[in-house]
Amino acid sequence: MCGIIGCMKKNKSNVAPTLLYGAKKLEYRGYDSVGIATYSDKIHVKKDEGKIEEVHKRLNLYDMPGSYGIAHVRWASVGRATKENAHPHTDENEKVAIVHNGTIKNYATLKKELKSEGHTFTSQTDTEVIVHLIEKFMDDGLDLEHALRESTKLLKGSYAIVAISSDEPYKMVATRKDSSLVLGVEQDSYYVASDILAMLKYTRNIIELEEGEIVVITDEDYVIHDKFDNPINKEITVTPWTPEMIDKNGYPYYMIKEINEQPEVIQKTLNDKNKIRAVLDDIGDFERICLIACGTSYHAALSGKYIIETVAKIPTNVILASEFSHTLNVLDEKTLVISVSQSGETADTLKALKMIDEKIKTLSIVNVETSQMPKVTDYSIITQAGPEIGVAATKTYLAQVCVMYLMAGILGNDSELIERLYEVPRYIEEILERCDELKVYSKRYSFVNDLFYMGKGFSYPTVLEAALKMKEISYIHAEAYASGELKHGPLALIDFTMPVISVIPPGEDHDLAVNALEEVKARKTLILTIGSENDDIIEDKANDCFLINPEVDEEIAPLVYIVALQLVAYYITVEKRLNPDMPRNLAKTVATE
Ligand code: G6P
Repeated sequence: MCGIIGCMKKNKSNVAPTLLYGAKKLEYRGYDSVGIATYSDKIHVKKDEGKIEEVHKRLNLYDMPGSYGIAHVRWASVGRATKENAHPHTDENEKVAIVHNGTIKNYATLKKELKSEGHTFTSQTDTEVIVHLIEKFMDDGLDLEHALRESTKLLKGSYAIVAISSDEPYKMVATRKDSSLVLGVEQDSYYVASDILAMLKYTRNIIELEEGEIVVITDEDYVIHDKFDNPINKEITVTPWTPEMIDKNGYPYYMIKEINEQPEVIQKTLNDKNKIRAVLDDIGDFERICLIACGTSYHAALSGKYIIETVAKIPTNVILASEFSHTLNVLDEKTLVISVSQSGETADTLKALKMIDEKIKTLSIVNVETSQMPKVTDYSIITQAGPEIGVAATKTYLAQVCVMYLMAGILGNDSELIERLYEVPRYIEEILERCDELKVYSKRYSFVNDLFYMGKGFSYPTVLEAALKMKEISYIHAEAYASGELKHGPLALIDFTMPVISVIPPGEDHDLAVNALEEVKARKTLILTIGSENDDIIEDKANDCFLINPEVDEEIAPLVYIVALQLVAYYITVEKRLNPDMPRNLAKTVATE
């Protein structure tokens, strides 16, 4: 779960700034360490532990000679975050340098064999075996691309690899399996990277590399070989994403920019209504739905279950992808399996999809079109959130929830629900306009160590997601419970040290949710309630209230109330002087099980 990039400047201009720019755009995939290798007479390497800016200050990463090279940002999985474990990795003689994203499961066995053959290892990573394998095959007389091909035959696990060698200057080779890799093609330069964000500033012309393909890039051209080593022609496509989409546009952090983009995201999602209808028509009949996802996408899927079961009356099961294997036995051909993922690269979700019998129909709801998930499912719906850079998902979550609301409306023939969705951008705008009120409340809650969230019915997935957001970026311990469950245990936790955030939209669940609020009020803790304007009952029971347009009832509240809760998590985090875009220990794309 790292980010890799390679670049060849055909015009022989200096490559380091381009590599660093690309690496910076991949930092959402990991920021434990960074490294760069370029070629000019020999391979030059600079790398160290820390985020790009920190390492750049220490080592001046721009000061690297050469017109081609590779770079890496790491999220440590095998081997701690140290300089030695940072990529690029090289062999003893610095003849070969590689960057790798993925996990080599049989690295320990390979390492033992390579060591017994005299190779010296300097890191604890799984990646280092790859560089020694390539070196070995090159010593046996193979060129770089065939040495890479032979090496990958010995690897078990996932990889996207870019390699260079001082024995073959002005050549860069790359391949992938179970980790994504995209080629970018411009007049004066070629790019290869984990995703298009790394190259979007320079090119929108991309080619997705399939499993087992190897691209050989030189300072003259590029050739793609299929898994049988035959050269093939692949069409260049133009990504709909533009460089402007990944600008901060004056916002201090991506997260707040992305929160503010949500009205537009909902609008774009609604514009896709007919496409979604067409996909559902293609899928045909099914009697049950099984949703699989991780993290924030799991919460979006839970919201999907509530609305699909209510409106379309289709039994819907939601499973954490990492727990999916136990559900396999109850799937049959009448089940539609839907994977939900912003990145489309989450290893747990991909693994779950691979377990499913081919006879069972699969659909993915994914934000990154070039990712692996649409390739491994029968059908796909691409969410229209655009690139999301902040590690904590916000706009992709809302886009996923909106897709599931549209699906529910279409499957349940509920045109009234679909009509109401068109009002959602306006409701969100109203919240965004009043964000200063939330800022004030956030100051009051920023000092706490623990927070308790509660919501009932449609609002239960919303509070689960709100608590996750709070944990991820502010490091405040946050727990979320269904309001009705309070009395079955967690009430024991509530005292003045555990403030409560409750979500109570108008609707059938309102009164029981208020009962739970009474129970916490009696324990004399600080309460912030997100509810509806004109709701005198909750105003009376909470210390702080943020009140939303009364037209938003419990059914559509998951598309609206979450925005206020995202803002609370964001403002508390900023108040604590933490960077919400880069929470510790986390990465946005988790390609490891
Ligand atoms: C990681 C991210 C989470 C995300 C989860 C699932 O853990 O840090 O923010 O929700 O992966 O990711 P996906 O790309 O499948 O939605």
